[in-house]
Order: sequence, then C-alpha cells, then structure tokens
Amino acid sequence: MPRTPGNAPKIVADTAAKAAAAPLLGWYDRHARVLPWRARKGERADPYAVWLSEIMLQQTTVATVGPYFMRFLARWPKVEALAAAPVEEVMKEWAGLGYYSRARNLHACAKTISSGYGGKFPEDVDGLSKLPGIGPYTAAAIAAIAFGKQATVVDGNVERVVARLFALRDPLPQVKPQIRARAATLTPANRAGDFAQAMMDLGATICTPKNPACNRCPLEAMCDAKAEDIAARLPARAPKKERPVRHGACFWLMKGEHVWLRRRPEMGLLGGMMEVPGSPWDSRAAEGAQPGLDHAPLKAEWKRVPGSVEHTFTHFHLVLDVYTATTRKKHVPGGGEWVPLGMLAGEALPTVMRKVAAHAMPDVGPLFAKR
Ligand code: ADE
Repeated sequence: MPRTPGNAPKIVADTAAKAAAAPLLGWYDRHARVLPWRARKGERADPYAVWLSEIMLQQTTVATVGPYFMRFLARWPKVEALAAAPVEEVMKEWAGLGYYSRARNLHACAKTISSGYGGKFPEDVDGLSKLPGIGPYTAAAIAAIAFGKQATVVDGNVERVVARLFALRDPLPQVKPQIRARAATLTPANRAGDFAQAMMDLGATICTPKNPACNRCPLEAMCDAKAEDIAARLPARAPKKERPVRHGACFWLMKGEHVWLRRRPEMGLLGGMMEVPGSPWDSRAAEGAQPGLDHAPLKAEWKRVPGSVEHTFTHFHLVLDVYTATTRKKHVPGGGEWVPLGMLAGEALPTVMRKVAAHAMPDVGPLFAKR
C-alpha cells in the first residue's frame, strides 16, 4: 500500500471530526487560569512579557515562575531596561530557576532586540527563531500568544492532550512528530494564542498525567483515548534510564558574618553562578572512595555536617558532603570573595548551593534554601 498518499486523507478525515477549537475556546473563556503574563480579555499581550514568561516556563512550573516573573518585570519593565542591566544582576534574579545558560541567552536576546530591532520583537516564527535562546517552541508561543499568528505550540501539556485526542500509542519521544502533525491540524486561524494557552491549561488542569478528569473535559466527545478507555495510559514513554549518581564534598568557610564563595567558570553546568568551594563531582565515591578534605580550600578545623545534600540535575544525581570551618584569613586560595550572610539571598546562588547553605546553617540557611 502506498504509505504517504495513503496517510494524508486519514489526517484530513480526523481533522473534520475534531473541530476542537470552538469547544476549547469556549471552555477557555470560562476557565482560563489567571496568570501574571496573560493579557486580560480584550487587551493585547505584551510581547516582552510573553517572551520572558515563555523562557522561564521551559521545564519549570507555572507556580515557581510566578514570583520570578513579577520580580523581573518590576525591575526591568521593558526589554531595553533588561538589555542595559549587567548580566551578573540578571543571573542573580534568575538564581533558583535552573538552566542558567537560559538567563545568559535571555540577556543576549534582550540586547539584540534593543539594539538591532529598535526594541520590537519580530512577529513571526522565522524572525523570532533567529534570536538567541528562542527555539521552535518559544518562537511559536510568542508568535501565537503575542501576535495572534497561526503557529502551533507544543509543550509537554499539549503533547499529552494531543496524544490522547488521537489515541497515539507509540511512546515518547518517538511519537513527537506524529503529535506535532496532529496538533497542527487543530490550530485555528483565529485566536491561535488563546487556543495554545487553552491547550496548555487543559493539560495542566483536566487532561492531567494521572486521573484525567474526562467528565469535565470540553473535548471528551471527540477524544479517541477516552472512547477506548486508555487516556490515563497515554502518552506512553520509553523506560527511563537511571540517572548516574555523582558525589562530592564542599566547604562552608566562615569569617565572622561572611562566607567564602567563588564563581564557577562561564562555560558548562551552572556557568557563571556562585558556589561554595568544593571537590570535583565524580562517581568515585559511589564505588567507595570518600571525596573529602584533600579538596578543602585551606587548612582549618573542618567538621563534617551529618547527613548530606542531594540535588538532581538533568543528567545526574548529586550527593554532596558538607564541611564547615571558620578562619581569620583574608584570602583563600583558589579565588573567590567573602560574602556577608545578609547578602546571600541576593547572590547568584543556584538551588543546589542554597541547599548547601541550609544544610551548613540550619538556623539561617532555610531562608534561602529555595526562593
Ligand atoms: N506553560 C508555558 N507557557 C504557558 C502559558 N502561556 N500559559 C500556561 N502555561 C504555560
């Protein structure tokens, strides 16, 4: 059987059967989540706010992003203001959101828009895709939400909704191209931005990973997975690989009310962020050897804090032993600076280092364990 021509009419036939836009937009008009970057009814979305929120929302939850978004917008209300900020200040405000290269690209993008585009974002997917840090997802989201273009926006929530609507059984990630093709058939010419956000809201509130609330879903009648009673099982996933475990030691060194911090190299994991000095993170300790005091930045009466700090990165899980000591020395080998404890919350300290602070100083640390 000829495959390509054979498949095309099927999608068209399904499309006719799945006029999802009208019921979904009707539902959205009644149930849209109120989110700080969303335009109110009848207002145009601010492209700067849409761009900022979409960059922040990649791999992070709506609940986490809210306060960050508000702080950024209060401090830098326009793209020109963000472009004019020192990158270190942007990293400080971003601290805790993870994926720190995103903050660098965010700043680079603001500079490009500000100096090369007269402060205006391009309005279509092609133009947006040329900018630093804007991939296919973000380009589509900005084009649709800020400029009303008929662009198809597919994030994790939308993937789930589409896989279920069409009962696509192949596992992620292989099924992604099928999901994308099906999603494109659903996107309406009008209100494409509302449609995209409605799909996201539906995925976040009704078409949830476990126990989807199909009886409240505006698309229930056209959902193939519901008809086949397999919604909760889709999308299928290839079995996850176990993350390797890495171990390390780090050294919380105090002088009076100051702690010694150093900046990580610009390139690589947590690039340019601040950290407590420590050993390399490797897997040796998993096999028996303790990474430990031989990596201390100076000789002192180091005491190991009972327990350890754990943090999961995309590609590995980290277990850190924390040692504490005090010193009277002005300088510590290996570079860094004395940071007043009162200033810690505003430093570009990634979440793993906030956990270290909380572990080293159980009384004060929890204040900046997480923002
Ligand atoms: N996740 C990513 N972008 C979003 C948006 N605009 N609304 C809701 N959830 C989102």
